[in-house]
Amino acid sequence: MKDLRFKVDGESCSRCRLCVDDCPNRVLTQRDGACPEVVAGREDLCFGCQHCFAICPSGSLSIFGLDPAGSEIRDPAGFPSPEAMGRLIRNRRSVRKYERENVPAEVIDGILADLQYVPTAQNKRYLKFTVVDDYRVMDGLRERIVSLAEKALAGGLDSRFVAGVVKYMRRDGVDVLFRGAPHLMLVSAHEGQVSAAQDVSLALAYFELLAASRGLGTCWCGFLGVFERAVPGVREALGLGATDAFYSVYFGPPAVRYARAPQRLGTSAIARLA
Ligand SMILES: Cc1cc2nc3c(=O)[nH]c(=O)nc-3n(C[C@H](O)[C@H](O)[C@H](O)COP(=O)(O)O)c2cc1C
Repeated sequence: MKDLRFKVDGESCSRCRLCVDDCPNRVLTQRDGACPEVVAGREDLCFGCQHCFAICPSGSLSIFGLDPAGSEIRDPAGFPSPEAMGRLIRNRRSVRKYERENVPAEVIDGILADLQYVPTAQNKRYLKFTVVDDYRVMDGLRERIVSLAEKALAGGLDSRFVAGVVKYMRRDGVDVLFRGAPHLMLVSAHEGQVSAAQDVSLALAYFELLAASRGLGTCWCGFLGVFERAVPGVREALGLGATDAFYSVYFGPPAVRYARAPQRLGTSAIARLA
């Protein structure tokens, strides 16, 4: 049975029941005039969302030994406005030209700290964020992947896509794989986890917006997935386990500025059930 270390300060608790009513799995109960408590036998149904802890107006409740005083106070006045969010989404771009310089470590660390708050399907912290935080390491990774691809092609790999990318990179010196980006953010998850692919993509979608809000360029790297599936050794070079699901986004200081947002041709279908 899970030890939730659930405690309520009986002096400051107003008995408002907000925590009881917000628990998604009805792990809490409250008798008339008493403080909330855990329903005996339902401890294992708690999946650690901390909604009880977060909703308590007086900070009277502790779970998992957490001190409410250590939490950020939620203040919607500090949120981006709907207009600001829309502007960011419309004006983020897939950047394919980068400065050859590192993003300061504290900027990357700040993004990684915010990424801890990305939701996952079962509220588990099982995602792995693999970061290339130095352009020289990125140079090494790029070279290793292209060399592995050359070896595979020499050994008979039949992939026009891989052959084409290698040709562009070696003959023309055009990095179509990572577009010269100094950094990579690769998110992975054990494939057996429920919603692994969704959790990975969601984390990268949040990453993209967090990076854009800091003036960084990003681009999703579908090509790396194609290489990983076709070329032996790429999965290992990325530090991935045999069955981990992954996706990646390369990023860095953009060497290109867009003056305006594009205008999407056509619109995605919007359906309404009645
Ligand atoms: C899942 C995914 C994979 C992508 N893979 C690549 C890629 O490997 N190389 C690339 O240059 N762009 C890639 N892109 C970028 C798309 O081409 C780009 O988002 C699209 O053309 C729209 O441009 P925008 O992002 O600037 O609005 C990818 C985008 C997504 C969402």
